[in-house]
Formats: sequence, structure tokens, C-alpha cells
Amino acid sequence: MLRLALVLLLLLLNVSCGGGSARAPVSPLSPQAALGARIFEDRTLSGSGRMSCATCHDPAFSHGPPNAQPVQVGGAFEQLFGLRAAPSIRYLERQPPFDAVRLRGGLMLDGRADTLAAQALLPLFGARELDAGDAETVARKVHQGVYASEFKAVYGESDAATTVQQIAEALQAFQLEDPRFHPYDSKYDAVLAGHERLSAAEARGLQAFEDPKRGNCASCHTSRPGADGKPPLFTDFGYAAVGVARNAAIPANANPQSFDLGLCQRPELAARTELCGLFRTPSLRNIARRPVYFHNGKMTSLAQVLDFYASRDSESARWYPAEKFDDLPAAYRSNVIPLAPGLSAQDLHDVACFLATLNDGYARGRPPVEACR
Ligand code: HEC
Ligand code: HEC
Repeated sequence: MLRLALVLLLLLLNVSCGGGSARAPVSPLSPQAALGARIFEDRTLSGSGRMSCATCHDPAFSHGPPNAQPVQVGGAFEQLFGLRAAPSIRYLERQPPFDAVRLRGGLMLDGRADTLAAQALLPLFGARELDAGDAETVARKVHQGVYASEFKAVYGESDAATTVQQIAEALQAFQLEDPRFHPYDSKYDAVLAGHERLSAAEARGLQAFEDPKRGNCASCHTSRPGADGKPPLFTDFGYAAVGVARNAAIPANANPQSFDLGLCQRPELAARTELCGLFRTPSLRNIARRPVYFHNGKMTSLAQVLDFYASRDSESARWYPAEKFDDLPAAYRSNVIPLAPGLSAQDLHDVACFLATLNDGYARGRPPVEACR
């Protein structure tokens, strides 16, 4: 009954706060970033001619996937399924580079790219993403395409390898400069700035989220401004194994020997088996709007995710058909972190109310849905 109520509440939150924040940029973009905006949406660069960065990172869906498929399909023939759920790519402008000692930072769910420019080359040439072909093909398209003159004005003429680097730089500049990638205009941001107050339910939710004996969520999903005074990103940039169940809907998982090992799948970290199963802690901004959750897209509602956090250990049979932590080889299952067991049904309801305050594009003074007042 309570579970049903939580599902209904989350549906309500989603509908009432729906839509993306697609406000116009406040200051004009630099020519380099404006070029990046064109490239971000340019389908002609893809091997199939039909997809762009925006296909999987749709601005109308918080720059995340526009559907609840666990993984998106890509490649030159649009036949290759991805291996991980497409993340929202908002709020990455403060991401530190990967630090193998402190185990934090980096882009991609295993931190394998240090900058947004380095990252951009991975999907551009990735066989399961844009699959753009070789550098010559990409450079020719850019130099002959609809924004060829803008490209020339910014970068002049150069060889194919340099052109590809410039594309990556332009994509990085776009993501760093365009405020739609990091608007910091959620209700919670207004609360931190002293312009707005949380409702009673939202405030209780924040308490449960932070309480080490209940959610303990904030120990990884940082909820307070840091020493630099900047608004929290709801991630400490760290890594953890949460032990989500295997997702049979991912085509690669048809092979029972195939596992996504996260951090230790990176060749240079392969010997560190204590890192197997660990993924980077994602930001929770806009989380109530995400159609699909966790690295393997196993869950499609926030209610399910909260239920999982509360009962993974106490009622594990509900989450795993046969063996607990079945998405990891048995040898690595001890890497999975224990979870704080203290969330009541009321807490789950309240945490859902709080998390909805992290949606971008909050209009000041707007009352929360009835159940969250
Ligand atoms: C077919 C879907 C797809 C396309 C097209 C795509 N991406 Fe992604 N993107 C993903 C997936 C899946 C991941 C996570 C991959 C991983 O962790 O291994 C990701 C990760 C990212 C990240 C890192 C997010 C983080 O939290 O660290 C950035 C930034 C990004 N993509 C930008 C881009 C850009 C720029 C383009 C166009 C050049 C692009 N993507 C095209 C699916 C896609
Ligand atoms: C030990 C660190 C840690 C704690 C504590 C923690 N999380 Fe997470 N959280 C993670 C990591 C790591 C992931 C990504 C796991 C994966 O994809 O396999 C994640 C994923 C999530 C996601 C899915 C995000 C997405 O984009 O798909 C949500 C929602 C979430 N956590 C909410 C919470 C809540 C609510 C709590 C408290 C009840 C909590 N987390 C406690 C580390 C943590």
C-alpha cells in the first residue's frame, strides 16, 4: 500500500514539474562554444547520418536520454546497443580529473576521460555511438558542411587530426559555457540562497537523506555547499559498488559470462580487483525526471530506486531472482557497500519530495504538490 502511494506520488511530481529547463543562454556564447552547439546537434557527422550527441543527451530531458530504454542504440547501421545507460550530462563543469589514489573524479561512469574534450572523442568514434568513421571523414564533413564558414572563422584550415581535436574543444566549450548545462535554478538552490523555504515534507526528506542512521545518502551524494561555497552537486565524485541486479534487457547480458565491472574494467586498473563493480556516484540533480536509473538502466522509476536502497539488504529476495549481487562475478561481490537500513515508509515519501526540489527550472513561489506540503 505504502509502496503504491510512493509510486503515485512520484508520478505526480514528475507530471507537475515536467519539461526541461530550456531557457535561452544569458550571455552570448563564444564563437568556439557556438560552434560546439552546432556540432552537438549535427547528425551528418554520425556514420548513420541519423544521430547526434543530442539524440542520447536530449536538452529537453535534462541532457539525458529521452526514453526509458536501459541502453540506447547507435552505430553506423543503428544496430548496436550500448553497454551502459546514457547519463544526464548536466553539472559536469566542476568535475575534477580522475585521481587513482583518492579514487575520485573523471568523466564516464568509470572516470576514463579527464576532460570534456577528451570525453567527446569517445562517442564521436565509438562503434556503439556516433561511429563517425575516421578523422579524414569527420574533417571533410565539417569543412564542407553547413557551418563550414563558422568553423573556418574560428579555427582556420588544418589537417584532419587537428580538426578532430578542434571539434572536441568546441564541444567542451559549449558544455562549459552554455548555462543550460548548469543552471543552478532548482528550488533547493533558491533555498540555499535564502530566497525560498522547503515545505515540511521536503525538509523532513532532506533530514532523512542526510541522517547517517537513515538514508545516509549525503555521505556520497553531497547535499551542502563545500568549502568553496558553491552549490552542492549531490556527488562527492567518488566511486562505490551499489550492487544493482543484473539487467536481462541489455543485449550484451545474453552472454552469462559478460559483466560490466566498472572501474576495474579499465585496462590500467585491471589488477585492482577491489575496484570491480564500482561506478562513479552520479549527481542527483534532475533525478526525478530521469526515465532510467543506474549504470545498467535496471530501474525505471525513482520509487523503485528508493525502495531498493531501503530494502536491498533486509528483503534481498525481492531484488535478486537467485543470487544476491548477481550482476557481479561471485569473487567481487564483497566489494558492494552495506546500506544504512533505517528508512521508514514515511522517510521514503519525504525523500522523494526532497529530491523533486533538485529539478532545474523552478518558478519561485510555486507550491509543491499536495502530498509534499
Ligand atoms: C548512443 C547514445 C550516445 C550518444 C550518441 C552520445 N552519448 Fe554521451 N554517453 C552515452 C553513454 C552510454 C555514456 C556513459 C558511458 C560510460 O560511462 O561508459 C555517455 C557519457 C557521456 C559523458 C560523460 C557523463 C559523465 O557523467 O561522466 C559526456 C560528457 C557525454 N556522454 C557527451 C557526449 C557528447 C559530446 C556526444 C556527441 C559527440 C555524445 N555524448 C554522444 C551515450 C551517448
Ligand atoms: C556509498 C555511496 C552511496 C550512498 C551512501 C548512496 N548512493 Fe546513490 N549512488 C551511488 C553510486 C555509486 C551510484 C551509481 C551506481 C550504479 O550505477 O551502479 C548511485 C546511484 C543512485 C541513483 C541513480 C542515479 C542515476 O543517475 O541513475 C539514485 C537515485 C541514488 N543513487 C539515490 C541515493 C539515495 C536516495 C541514497 C540514500 C538512501 C543513496 N543514493 C545513497 C553511491 C551512493
